[in-house]
Amino acid sequence: MPKTGGNSVDIELTINGERATVEAGSADDLATVLRQHGYIGVKCGCDGGTCGASKVFVDGEVVMACGMAAEDADGSEIQTVAALGTQDDLHPVQQAFVDNFAVQCGFCIPGMVIQAVALLDSNPDPTEQEVREALDDNVCRCTGYQKPVEAVLDAAERIQGAQSVAADGGQSVSAPLRGSESTGCCGGGCDE
Ligand code: FES
Ligand code: FES
Repeated sequence: MPKTGGNSVDIELTINGERATVEAGSADDLATVLRQHGYIGVKCGCDGGTCGASKVFVDGEVVMACGMAAEDADGSEIQTVAALGTQDDLHPVQQAFVDNFAVQCGFCIPGMVIQAVALLDSNPDPTEQEVREALDDNVCRCTGYQKPVEAVLDAAERIQGAQSVAADGGQSVSAPLRGSESTGCCGGGCDE
């Protein structure tokens, strides 16, 4: 169950590039507070820090938001999946998930996309094994994981290809690995 309640305090967050003052109970977890404020791309599957659905970036680090006290995020910069791309301009990872048919019910996809972006940020050319290890705490009940793994490997190629074009003086076709503003949907079940 989501951890909610307790005495309320106001906390300051920057969420997907927007500064916000949000009310949080002393027992509230970050995933619950984000969802209560409309960031429903943060999914709650287990509420126990084991399924990966609630992953967000907190100050650039991947965090399972269900396992973080909202109060502890005070002053932090949060990025949900909706920060990465828009419906009309998906992040390369989001586009690769769509193009590789890696999305079924979509519930796990925001967390997978966040983790994949973090992986490719630190390791732009991962092996299949490295992708599998990066996603090993993202639980998916639908896909059997093969398609998401293929999507991440495809995204790595797309990003590297776009960067090569840019290095050659062409105009980059890649979105930034972590965009700062967006209100659109990833096409992968986030509903934002
Ligand atoms: S809901 Fe947070 S990891 Fe499962
Ligand atoms: S696509 Fe349904 S849980 Fe992963």
